Parts: sequence; structure tokens; C-alpha cells
Amino acid sequence: MNILVLGSGGREHTFAYKIVESPLCDTLFVAPGNAGTAAIATNVPIAVTDFSTIKDLVLKENIKMVVIGPEDPLVQGISDFFKEDSQLKDVVVIGPSKEGAQLEGSKEYAKEFLFRHDIPTAAYQSFTAETVEEGKKFLETLSSPYVLKADGLAAGKGVLILQDIEEAKSELENMLTNKKFGAASEKVVIEEFLDGIELSVFVLTDGKNYVTLPTAKDYKRIGEGDTGLNTGGMGAISPVPFADDILMTKIEEQVVKPTVDGLAKENIDYKGFIFIGLIKVGDDPKVIEYNVRMGDPETEAVLPRVKTDLVSLFQHVGDQTLDQVILEIDPRTATTVMTVSGGYPEAYQKGKEIIGIDTITESIVFHAGTKLDGDKVITNGGRVIAITSFDDNFKDALKKSYSNIEKLHFDKMYYRKDLGFDL
Ligand code: AMP
Ligand code: GLY
Repeated sequence: MNILVLGSGGREHTFAYKIVESPLCDTLFVAPGNAGTAAIATNVPIAVTDFSTIKDLVLKENIKMVVIGPEDPLVQGISDFFKEDSQLKDVVVIGPSKEGAQLEGSKEYAKEFLFRHDIPTAAYQSFTAETVEEGKKFLETLSSPYVLKADGLAAGKGVLILQDIEEAKSELENMLTNKKFGAASEKVVIEEFLDGIELSVFVLTDGKNYVTLPTAKDYKRIGEGDTGLNTGGMGAISPVPFADDILMTKIEEQVVKPTVDGLAKENIDYKGFIFIGLIKVGDDPKVIEYNVRMGDPETEAVLPRVKTDLVSLFQHVGDQTLDQVILEIDPRTATTVMTVSGGYPEAYQKGKEIIGIDTITESIVFHAGTKLDGDKVITNGGRVIAITSFDDNFKDALKKSYSNIEKLHFDKMYYRKDLGFDL
């Protein structure tokens, strides 16, 4: 079978890495891909939201399965585009319908879904420019810190956590009236602050059945000790050491099952990943967000632990037979450390030559923002290369990742040296 992966990050390189090892895959295409995917698949320079050119490629190359990496094409309805097209309708698309993608595309939609299905989450109310004064009054009923969330997609930047009530009120005004995050903050969800430790759970569902993939924890802040600006993610650890059987059973019963059942009950077409962001408050899980795709860099730590053939898993999703699958998971810990361009997540330079990739042997190298320049690999984004290592525990796995990163070099390379500090 010919397969297409959409996207160009470390997540997509990891998908490609797993897919090409499957005997079910004949030719793999990645659009647009990076230097890492170019080495194991055929890159095609098509934007992930250019549906009509994607259609041409799928027909020309007889592609029977499309795996969607990022959220944008999902929120824009790529799954519906395939389903409604007589030539594309039998292609297996891994990614939910436009309706399902609203779980990530709108915070208010997600909160309403959570409340309809009695899934534990923070109390909230949502406001628009017309109700900004009511929003300020609502803030007065809460205690610090205050959590403000832009309703729409804001590239991971739309959540503000503020200590001071006056600052919270003025930021609310900024978001609603001055459109701080553009159209994404025309509506704002104000949420109760949850105090606890975060973890993420990944689910693959066919719309009726599901399998739970390994847990992971990512490190979003640029600075050590979780300080500084938010990034896409500076590293990940899987499994999360504190996610014991008791907590996982609660997550399964209180969160995962009601989520999948809720989607089915509401006839929401959902064949793909659900990435559930959780906070453990006391001994109990609460949902902070849904994403309708895998995480990046969580994928780089989670998928290498999945021993079950990924393409066969995706076929079961297409056939709605995931109930027949028993997942095989590598019991070892995987850790991923992300190297980034100096300056990221603010302005940074691209085009720096990356040296030493071939010298790394004990870890897996996943490319993120890289591209080929003749026979050189150069930087092409903020997050550049992720290094994933296995060992019996996260400390030893991290040691391996860090010692291998020292073999890698590009101008102004930066990475966090303290992953796992909080575990
Ligand atoms: P989100 O985009 O919803 O995942 O929010 C980004 C980050 O803000 C999360 O990873 C949490 O660290 C934090 N966060 C979001 N909602 C809450 C909340 N209700 N209480 C505490 N922290 C939160
Ligand atoms: N690492 C967080 C995300 O992919 O959303």
C-alpha cells in the first residue's frame, strides 16, 4: 500500500520511521517533510492545507492511506474533504472530521463536550467583546491565579495564567476587544486554576473502539526549571513515572471511555488520535485540553515504544476493528530531548549547517526543522532535531540522549539540560 504523511516536524519523521518498517507499506510519501523524512521516504513540496493538490498526489500515486500530523488541516476539514469526494472516499484517513477537530479548534466546544459527558475538568465560563464587563465580574469571583484561554487555535500561545486580578482584567480586555490573538480570541474561556502535575494520555480510536498508547510528559517552557516562554515542546518522557495503575484506571474510566463513547453517541465521525492533556489534582485526573492529533515532541517518545505494526493499527482504525488489537508496548522508558535554534521561540536564524548527525548511534535522531541543502543538512525551523533514547528508567535514558547530543552541532544550538527535574 502507498501511504502519505502530512506535516514536516519531528512527529511526522517519527510516523515515517514507524511506517517504513511495516511490511504493509510499499511507498511512503511525506508532504512537505524535512531532511529526515527525505532519507527514508519521498518528500513532496505540498502545503498541508492545500487539499486539491493533495488530492492530485493521492490519485496520481495510488495512495490508500493518509496520516495527518498537525491540527490545521483537520480543523479545516481534510477528513470530510476525502469522505465527500467520490474518488477519495475509500482512502483511509487518520484524523477526525471537522466536527471532531473542534475539540481542539474551540476551547468552548471542548468544555461543553466535557460537561455534557460528565468528564472531570475545571469550572469555566466563556465571554465575548459584548460581555467583557461580565467577564471581569466573573474574574472577581475566582481566586488567583487566573486562567484565560483564547477560544480558537493560537499556535500554543493562547493561554495566559496571571497572578494579579487587574492584569487579568486588562488581558481579558486585550484578548476580546483588541483581538490580542486575532480571531482566535474573539471568544475567551475563563477557567478555574488547577494545581497539580501534568501528564498526557494518547488514544487511537476508530470511533467505536480505542487503544490507549503510552503516557508522556512534555516540557513546554524554554528555560530550565520550567521558566520563560512557552515553546512547542523541549522534550518528552514516556511513560510518566507517577502514572501508576490506580491513576491510569481512573483516567480510563472517568476520561477516555466517556470521551470515545461521547463522540459515538453524538455521531461525531472520529478516526484518529486523541491527545488528552491532564492535570493530576490530589489523586484525581482532570482534563485541561484535548488535541485531535499526536503531540510533538511526545510522539518521538511514545511511538518508538509501540511495537505493534503502526500501519496495521491504522488499517484497524479504517475498518473500525480496533477491538481486535492487543497493543504491544516496549516496557523501557523513552526520553526525547529537543535541540532548538538560538533565540527560539522568539526570532531565530535558519540555514545553519548541522554537523554530527551520522555519529549518533545509541539514540534515534528525529528531524524537526531541517532541510537538505545539496548534501548538507541545515536548520529550517525553531525546533531542529530531537534525540530519543531508551533505557530502564528516565534518568539513564536521558543520560544517553544528553551524551549523544554532544556529538551534534549547529551555530547557537540550545537544549534544556534539566528534563525530568520535577519527577
Ligand atoms: P492548554 O493550551 O489548554 O493546554 O494550556 C496550556 C498550559 O496552560 C497547560 O499545559 C497548563 O500548563 C496550563 N493550564 C491550562 N489550563 C489550566 C488550568 N485550568 N489550571 C492550571 N493550569 C492550566
Ligand atoms: N507538545 C505539545 C503539543 O504537541 O501540543
